[in-house]
Amino acid sequence: MLAIVTGASGGIGSALVVALRQRPEITAVIASYHRSDPPEDVKPVTRSEQETLATLFICQLDARDEASVKQFADFTALHVSATCPVKLLINCIGMLHSEAVQPEKSIRYVDAHKLQQAMAVNSLPTLLLAKHLGPLLKSNTPCLFSTVSARVGSIGDNRLGGWYSYRMSKAALNQALKCLAIEWKRSARNVIVVALHPGTTATALSEPFQHNVPVGKLFSTEQTADMLLQVLDSLQVADSGKFLAYDGSEIAW
Ligand SMILES: NC(=O)c1ccc[n+]([C@@H]2O[C@H](COP(=O)([O-])OP(=O)(O)OC[C@H]3O[C@@H](n4cnc5c(N)ncnc54)[C@H](OP(=O)(O)O)[C@@H]3O)[C@@H](O)[C@H]2O)c1
Repeated sequence: MLAIVTGASGGIGSALVVALRQRPEITAVIASYHRSDPPEDVKPVTRSEQETLATLFICQLDARDEASVKQFADFTALHVSATCPVKLLINCIGMLHSEAVQPEKSIRYVDAHKLQQAMAVNSLPTLLLAKHLGPLLKSNTPCLFSTVSARVGSIGDNRLGGWYSYRMSKAALNQALKCLAIEWKRSARNVIVVALHPGTTATALSEPFQHNVPVGKLFSTEQTADMLLQVLDSLQVADSGKFLAYDGSEIAW
């Protein structure tokens, strides 16, 4: 079976690729990278070269660009077949800050262009991936379509405010996943659609904010990958449309 990880050059994505390649039911992993080269252990190696690991294919993807997503879907289609259906897709693409962008502590810092950038990286890719890879997911086999969102995207759970662009773009992502779950309940009944919250994980994305995290609540990327895969393993078709944390608990939309 095939696993697809987008954002595999990032902290959580690369750990998921490493974990998925060790699973006996996964024969191949397709991993996307963006600007950064994939880390050393996310380099293509075939099963014959390293018997115990699933074959890895990597593909460049700028998920803000529909033509690039279409190319990624075409690349993926080459590896999907009746004997190798898609078992899961996990989208790990996201952005909280960059050299030019910092999460806004107050409405005074909101900037139209930066808000649009957050929407382009955090909300849009899931829709484009669903549009172009959706046809590859339909089969008789249960299949997972998941995106790593963030608890701060929950409107019901928002107690602190701030971080306008990140919160809004993750809330939009969550709404997109909810719509998709409803649509695919009718037209792609084997697909389970979920949003995931990984918990605070030691990656470049969380690095500037890790000092506020209580002891024991900052996970390594390996811990997060294992916990998210355990959550995904536990899901049934009836769970489609849920927003789930790393420990399997449900989060208010
Ligand atoms: N780490 C945490 O504590 C935490 C907490 C809650 C939620 N999350 C969410 O978890 C997901 C993964 O985060 P992470 O911590 O692993 O962050 P990360 O290490 O910064 O990884 C982000 C990934 O997104 C990719 N990316 C960015 N823009 C892209 C684009 N236009 N097209 C394709 N790929 C693009 C990056 O590729 P390049 O680097 O090559 O651009 C990188 O692979 C994100 O959605 C994040 O919001 C993380």
